[in-house]
Amino acid sequence: MEDRKLLQIKDLKISFAYGQNRIQVVREIDLDVYQGEIVGILGESGSGKTVSSTAILGLVSDGDGRIDGGEIRFKDQDLLKLPERALESIRGKEIAYIFQDPVASLNPYRKVGKQIQEAVKVHGIKVEKEEILKTMEEIGLADAKLIYDMYPFQLSGGQCQRLNIAMAVICKPKLMIADEPTSAIDASLRRKVLNIFRGINEKYGTAIMIITHDFDVARFLCHRVVIMYGGLVMEEGEVRDVLEKPMHPYTVELLKCVNSLNVGESSLYSLEGVPPNPYELKNECPFFERCKQRMDQCNQGIPPMVNGENNRRVRCIQAVSN
Ligand SMILES: Nc1ncnc2c1ncn2[C@@H]1O[C@H](COP(=O)(O)OP(=O)(O)OP(=O)(O)O)[C@@H](O)[C@H]1O
Ligand SMILES: [Mg+2]
Repeated sequence: MEDRKLLQIKDLKISFAYGQNRIQVVREIDLDVYQGEIVGILGESGSGKTVSSTAILGLVSDGDGRIDGGEIRFKDQDLLKLPERALESIRGKEIAYIFQDPVASLNPYRKVGKQIQEAVKVHGIKVEKEEILKTMEEIGLADAKLIYDMYPFQLSGGQCQRLNIAMAVICKPKLMIADEPTSAIDASLRRKVLNIFRGINEKYGTAIMIITHDFDVARFLCHRVVIMYGGLVMEEGEVRDVLEKPMHPYTVELLKCVNSLNVGESSLYSLEGVPPNPYELKNECPFFERCKQRMDQCNQGIPPMVNGENNRRVRCIQAVSN
């Protein structure tokens, strides 16, 4: 298993400047992506999913962000130590990123066809216009020929999102990171887009890391899932193991919300309270305040990660005491 690791994030810590203070929003992320697998990253808003994944491509230091520690190994090199030029040649070609904000990630002043061509050309890959149009159509952009000559502002959010996917797919990267790639897409197209992801994974062996709030997306697409909360990984394992037998009380609660929505219960189950603000994080389990199973020890330091069978990991004292 070890030699199949494509990406290995170890003990990643990221902070932002808030006024005079620096606050760590990603506190200790360990996360592996194996060759050819699809891994889902789930967790409530603010848990650190986007920040951790943009760090892979060296995009955190924009603004007040800083990587305080850790390693991000991709094919035997630590991406955090690579100079900008070396990272540039990896971005898009070996690791493609589909951003959470599909409109902002396109250049507003370039026609979309030109943008795709340029993005591919940077990596020394030549792709004919016909292939770009075919990829656009495959991704559900039926008027590909028309859209090719349009500017991003003339397109809907969903169309921009599909363009980003087309751009990522066309270079056939080793790893594709997709941050909420179906959030602006109609339910009718969602399955189609997910099938395209699955097809790329099966046909080219592209590993995919998909960030999503949607457990159905994870169930449909992923081999493994990682549950994040308060800048930490709380639980990790094969998708069926985690969704059918969640071990962390946080995962249990999240799944109760999803299941109550799916069966159409008259009063929907909701998780009480809100995730902690990064500047309120303490040296304790971040789920402590909301946890129905909390024990005295749970606020005495951040619980350690416990390894279980079948590559299962859970950050909970209960898992040790059971
Ligand atoms: N540029 C920034 N400056 C300051 N704080 C930031 C910045 N970007 C993110 N953060 C903070 O880092 C924490 C993690 O943010 P992140 O965007 O990774 O969350 P997320 O899990 O992706 O949430 P969502 O599901 O809403 O996309 C949040 O508390 C957020 O406010
Ligand atoms: Mg996000």
